[in-house]
Amino acid sequence: MPQVMSDNIESHLVENRIFNPPAEFSAKATIGSMEAYRELYDSSIADPEAFWAGIAAELSWQKKWDTVLEWNCPFAKWFVGGEVNVSENCVDRHLAKRGDKVAILWEGEPGDKRTLTYRQLYEETCKFANALKANGIKAGDRVIIYMPMVPEAAIAMLGCARIGAVHSVVFGGFSAESIKDRLHDSGAVAVITADGGWRRGSIVPLKESVNKALEGDTQVQRVITLKRTANDVTMVDGRDVWWHDEVAKVDSNCPPQAFDSEHPLFILYTSGSTGKPKGILHTSGGYLTGAYATSKYVFDLRDDDIYWCAADVGWITGHSYIVYGPLANGATVLMYEGAPNHPGLDRFWQIIEEYKVTILYTAPTAIRAFIKWGDEHVEKYDLSSLRLLGTVGEPINPEAWMWYHEKIGSGKCPIVDTWWQTETGGIMITPLPGATPTKPGTATLPFFGIDAAVVDEQGEEVRANEGGKLVIRKPWPSMLRTIYGDEQRYIDTYWKEYGNMYLAGDGARRDELGYFWIVGRLDDVLNVSGHRLGTAEVERALVSHHSVAEAAVVGRPDEIKGQGVVAFVTLKEGFESTDALNKELRAHVGEMIGAIAKPDEIRFAAALPKTRSGKIMRRLLKEICAGGAVSGDTTTLEDFNVIAALQGKGDDE
Ligand code: PRX
Repeated sequence: MPQVMSDNIESHLVENRIFNPPAEFSAKATIGSMEAYRELYDSSIADPEAFWAGIAAELSWQKKWDTVLEWNCPFAKWFVGGEVNVSENCVDRHLAKRGDKVAILWEGEPGDKRTLTYRQLYEETCKFANALKANGIKAGDRVIIYMPMVPEAAIAMLGCARIGAVHSVVFGGFSAESIKDRLHDSGAVAVITADGGWRRGSIVPLKESVNKALEGDTQVQRVITLKRTANDVTMVDGRDVWWHDEVAKVDSNCPPQAFDSEHPLFILYTSGSTGKPKGILHTSGGYLTGAYATSKYVFDLRDDDIYWCAADVGWITGHSYIVYGPLANGATVLMYEGAPNHPGLDRFWQIIEEYKVTILYTAPTAIRAFIKWGDEHVEKYDLSSLRLLGTVGEPINPEAWMWYHEKIGSGKCPIVDTWWQTETGGIMITPLPGATPTKPGTATLPFFGIDAAVVDEQGEEVRANEGGKLVIRKPWPSMLRTIYGDEQRYIDTYWKEYGNMYLAGDGARRDELGYFWIVGRLDDVLNVSGHRLGTAEVERALVSHHSVAEAAVVGRPDEIKGQGVVAFVTLKEGFESTDALNKELRAHVGEMIGAIAKPDEIRFAAALPKTRSGKIMRRLLKEICAGGAVSGDTTTLEDFNVIAALQGKGDDE
């Protein structure tokens, strides 16, 4: 059993199953062995600037950089003096060789389909960029994009990038209030939206939310609205125009303008654990280099791949791995507009069979939902086109990993469990599918050029199997440059603790192979009788019980132990929340981890509070445990009813 140190986060769960990449996968992969990985990794860490410059040189630059990196900790500038146009790299660069290749394969929720070749994507991007210009939008202006998952969402992003406007995509499920906050914080002068989008058979009235967000004082001059669902919308004279009218007025001649490598590309808001959302700022040359390199190596992209990242463009995953990374690689990207359970629980598998998807990238929360829905929905379909699977967003519990491996990948597809953040811009810790032996539940090893470590309070690297804080010790090109409009918060959040190392905010340990295991967010760490336990391990232990679909663990104040452990558990279909099961689950955690981690209380729930991107909001559960009332920011909560139900249950007890 892994050893522990008292001051640090403890880690007790051991996973011994190991899966080597299939030989036929490795034979064709860009990085086909651990020796090849080690060799390139070692040289990339010995000289990261040389490594990243080599990658950047694979892209198109209108002017080559003078200096690879200017590092004035914590402020980085990459490819200084270089000039680049991000959209040129995602579209124009492929025209000669891949003009007729499909760039975007799209399916709407009602079943409508579209394809755009690279040439068509280029033309649409150019026209839209011209339409933006014609509407007075210029380089440096901030533009909010609030759209459904339609090709125009990508076109809007690329169009902004083409003219140097800074986009800020707001997830289409967020409320008018969320748009208002982001409009205000970013100082956006324009909004790109649609009349509506389809979700679970209903129209999400996007334009109406924009109208509401723009009530009262606003600096917004222009709203460009795409007609998607043809529902009635209110257009405000002088402010609102239709997408189709605007692109009809311009041509597709829009040469890509050269921008400084450090020109801002986008702001993406991410919820802090407390307080208002942080506007994470990413810039051009470095971000593109990171998204390009990670897409190329982690997804081992080949020209005939049909690549599907099932995230929404409203998240960083959508930015880096639907739009910028895969398109910079000239890949065919599948985009799906709607919900995974509409009209049936088999929608994903139907799509994979129909489009012969080869790579699927999704989140553990989705995988757990699929497990809960039952295998029969999967088994109806031929998923043999798949060759690679990926996950992102939170620690994947080994049971979900095994199900993904066996049921979706038929035991033959490597799984890349990718650890990264909105702030890191691109994947940081990940297996390389043709090289890295994987273990269920770990993101394994750092990507090239990434100097990740687990350190103690003093910043010293801890020994194998000791818990600590995850840090990155060297700058990397796709790192955030600041929090928009709040440099002090940037410094305080990520750099204050150690001064010269980026604090990711996650607890982690490395095992004897050097593999990284994320044990949970530092904000959520439990402190039971002086033992610091990550939430992820206790949750993993619970979910390894055959009755449990999902679990969230939080601490509540306890006079004796400091904190007591409360577990919120949702059960799989067919199981009942009995006292006997309650006891059994507590005993199960005791066996898996030790008595210290045994929940003091288990609360069965029909659902857990999650953000719209599927992350469990432990902060809210903590508040419920501490006293019942939920305060603080709940605007990112997916469904407030879940909290009401949990509170109702709490009162009964
Ligand atoms: O706690 C880690 C978790 O998600 C956080 C970043 O969230 P966000 O900025 O929303 O970005 C999500 C998409 C990149 C991390 O600090 N996380 C993300 N991926 C993993 C993960 N935890 C464990 N394993 C992962 N693969």
